[in-house]
Amino acid sequence: MTKLTTYEIDIVKSDTSKINAVDFDNLIFGRIFTDHMFICDFENNAWQTPRIIPYQAMTLDPSARVFHYGQAVFEGMKAYKDDDGKLWMFRPEDNFNRINKSAARLAMPEFPKEYFFEGITKLLQMDSEWVKPGKGNSLYLRPFIIATDPAISASPSSNYRFMIICSPAKAYYSDKIKVLVAEKFSRSANGGVGFAKAAGNYAAQFYPTSLAQKRGFQQIIWTDADTHEKLEEAGTMNVFFRVNDALITAPVSDRILDGVTRKSIIQLAEDNGIDVEIRPITVTELKKASRNGSLKEIFGTGTAAVISPISAFEHAEELFELPNIENSYADTLKDKMLNIQHNLAEDKHGWRYEVKS
Ligand code: COI
Repeated sequence: MTKLTTYEIDIVKSDTSKINAVDFDNLIFGRIFTDHMFICDFENNAWQTPRIIPYQAMTLDPSARVFHYGQAVFEGMKAYKDDDGKLWMFRPEDNFNRINKSAARLAMPEFPKEYFFEGITKLLQMDSEWVKPGKGNSLYLRPFIIATDPAISASPSSNYRFMIICSPAKAYYSDKIKVLVAEKFSRSANGGVGFAKAAGNYAAQFYPTSLAQKRGFQQIIWTDADTHEKLEEAGTMNVFFRVNDALITAPVSDRILDGVTRKSIIQLAEDNGIDVEIRPITVTELKKASRNGSLKEIFGTGTAAVISPISAFEHAEELFELPNIENSYADTLKDKMLNIQHNLAEDKHGWRYEVKS
């Protein structure tokens, strides 16, 4: 993988660690953060010397543009520890490329690759105790960029802050989830920012999702904004449908995130002889497949969620239950992916990235 030139990072180490107070067996996603964080400011048209400092609150001017116009993008990545104590990441270059694609769409400057990889490496070296070995354990890394200009005119900022914070994590959903198929609200539109990991994409989901949650659903399956017929994403995940033995998922577009887990699952499914169809799939087709018994599985994929099986969906006030099946694609493919991520299986696509110690 990428040869790194070592860049200067200013480092201030924390005097104490919070790690002993953490119950690693009972983690709630995204609540606990490691001892350090990475910061790099964009000022005078250039990224300044990166810093790693103890995790702490920070001050921003109330007029900072991120608060007013949501000029913010982020990524989700994970680090894993194998049984020999080596640290690994999974396709980090894809996250690096995607944060810059998201940044470009939100008129933000690209972040340099060397800083990104050096920052992650140094941060993981310093907080390596926070990465626990064992399948299902990981350290979730959240790189993000925010607009910091103290000015409320509605135009792009001149100053930005890139940061990485890290949080020990297990899978996002512990059980199967029930989802509602969107009939009124939309997540994204052609020409919009649905493909980007723009912070506002997620905020805009909170209200419709909270309505769904009041009715006992954990997430929404988003449909296209024009017809509400094409099935696009599931909450914060890409979504797959198994009809008979074929695995179907929507093609990526302006409206759909190019998920790293999504494309890995497509590849692993193909490697295992599963027939994968990347094509639009409609609500009508899904309901018909459910009624005639050919719909076997639905699952979401994402870095946080890994693979999250769906037990039922509702559309037009009708509930459709998924069957309980043995040797599900969700379980099989999840296991194959976790084995690669945790250095327990051959990595024939070169997805694993060793974090140097
Ligand atoms: C991820 O899977 O990393 C995500 O970005 C989802 C997050 C909103 C929890």
